[in-house]
Amino acid sequence: MSFLLSEQHRMIQRLACDVAQKEIAPQAAQWDHTETFPKVVIQKLAALGLMGVCVPEVYGGSGLDHFSYVLALEEIAVACASTAAIMSVNNSLVCEPLKLFGNDVQKKTFLTPLARGEKLGCFCLSEPNAGSDAGNQQTVAVKKGDRFILSGTKNFITNGPQADIAIVFAVTDKAQKKKGVSAFIVDKHQKGVEVGKVEKKMGIKASGCCQLIFNEAEVSVQNLLGEEGQGLKIALRTLDSGRIGIGAQAVGIARAAFEAASAYAKERHQFGKAISEFQAIQWILADMATQIDAARLLVHRAAHLDDEGRSFTKEAAMAKLFASETAMKVTTDAVQVYGGYGYSKEYPVERFFRDAKITEIYEGTSEIQRLVIASQVLR
Ligand code: CAA
Repeated sequence: MSFLLSEQHRMIQRLACDVAQKEIAPQAAQWDHTETFPKVVIQKLAALGLMGVCVPEVYGGSGLDHFSYVLALEEIAVACASTAAIMSVNNSLVCEPLKLFGNDVQKKTFLTPLARGEKLGCFCLSEPNAGSDAGNQQTVAVKKGDRFILSGTKNFITNGPQADIAIVFAVTDKAQKKKGVSAFIVDKHQKGVEVGKVEKKMGIKASGCCQLIFNEAEVSVQNLLGEEGQGLKIALRTLDSGRIGIGAQAVGIARAAFEAASAYAKERHQFGKAISEFQAIQWILADMATQIDAARLLVHRAAHLDDEGRSFTKEAAMAKLFASETAMKVTTDAVQVYGGYGYSKEYPVERFFRDAKITEIYEGTSEIQRLVIASQVLR
């Protein structure tokens, strides 16, 4: 792993930075305020190949590596954490399992429009009683001839209100417990699939999040992803990749807060000088910069291992854990550097602070990341 970016990596970083700063950053506060899904910008990301970064070109993607993906995602997250969340769900939680476990027909039918950004995906694992305990699925899929009939409720589905295609986990054999869970590709617009409660969230307000209710939704056996009973493994393998993306999103949010706080510290004068001249503020900024770099290195290491085809479960959990806690710490300190202005919606750091919190929760809480890391280091 090199600490220097290749020309190709610099190009994708510049491409993402350019669209982020020109088209996303100027509108992010407004989208947050009005809770508006940034549809036009998602189409723009799609046109640039950023909705299917790691999908082979033959299936409509950009055919790039996971390292390119995290570089791009960090840039988007600096501008707007909501847009980064939408992008990461489509790339990591939907395109990735279709790429890894789908057959050729499924890739042509579902992966291609998702990678091109013509369709949007969501990932339906969480349920009212299956959050951290993902294996405790209650949604059932009963086989009838050449179809499965899906019934159950999925909770906190990012992209749920806007999605066209859902990866849905359901129990096909109750007796097999965790080994009786299977994964399905479901058309969200079909009969028997309903959008339930739409969540009013603390942060990432421009991304949609809702309950999805499956009421005897008929799914062809051809839409079974992987094999029957392989569902939980598909979900956990998918989340390994997803957690690297959330790490990159967290680094982006932290960087946005650091950049705002350091610029403000140079402008804000108290006691006759810029507050950046006080050691109390300098030490806060020094710690922020150090933690952000450390978080980014963990994210890059995990992405690199994924690209090398090596095991990266522990490294992805470490990257997500450290980056999300860094995002929370850095955004809290950025509010502090701004003082009273930091608490006001007129300045951006209160949005960064609200957006950071979700990175410690979704795709596995910090407690679950520690559990995954501990289970690996104690092996
Ligand atoms: N990759 C592939 N397979 C894996 C795996 C991985 N990383 N980790 C475990 N497995 C396999 C195991 O080997 C096991 O298979 P065998 O029995 O054949 O050996 C099977 O999967 C089940 O593993 P465990 O028995 O270890 O599973 P568990 O029930 O004890 O759960 C857990 C482990 C770490 C707690 C896991 O449930 C977990 O990660 N929970 C958190 C779930 C989560 O992140 N939810 C977020 C949902 S997505 C989201 O946030 C929504 C959104 O829209 C953004």
